[in-house]
Amino acid sequence: MKKIFFLFGFLVLSGCGGDAFNEGEDYGNLLDTPGGLTLNQSEHPLGWGDANCTICHNLENIHLVNRTGTSIDIVAIHDRAISEGISGCAACHGNNGVP
Ligand code: HEC
Ligand code: HEC
Repeated sequence: MKKIFFLFGFLVLSGCGGDAFNEGEDYGNLLDTPGGLTLNQSEHPLGWGDANCTICHNLENIHLVNRTGTSIDIVAIHDRAISEGISGCAACHGNNGVP
């Protein structure tokens, strides 16, 4: 019984903690993958060939943490992706199989 209360409390705290840092979508270090930042069909099976990135990716919820191990400016990338929208993604991620 105690355990159930603990679990419930944990879910409430983690679900509603407004000041908890959100790390956003996490696929590890993209530079470690064969394609690097450039998307390919085998690393992006669900999204391949679809230009409407924002159907699946919330731009507020990506580019939040730099996992590349290099000194990129993740805040600048986050802001740029939001200001350019989906027309800007290809510059860094390739054309995602969209002709
Ligand atoms: C139909 C849903 C969908 C669409 C549309 C989509 N994606 Fe994705 N994307 C995913 C999923 C799911 C993942 C997680 C990896 C996987 O299973 O494919 C992902 C992963 C990624 C990753 C990480 C890739 C990696 O190597 O792990 C990048 C970058 C990305 N998407 C960019 C884009 C861009 C840019 C577009 C638009 C051109 C796009 N996505 C459109 C669903 C989608
Ligand atoms: C200026 C280059 C640049 C642009 C423009 C850009 N990205 Fe990225 N993107 C990156 C980098 C670099 C990473 C790896 C970030 C990291 O290590 O966390 C990344 C990671 C991602 C990921 C994996 C999840 C994550 O947060 O790491 C997704 C999904 C993604 N981008 C989607 C998009 C979409 C959709 C667009 C267009 C709206 C876009 N990107 C525009 C450089 C860019």
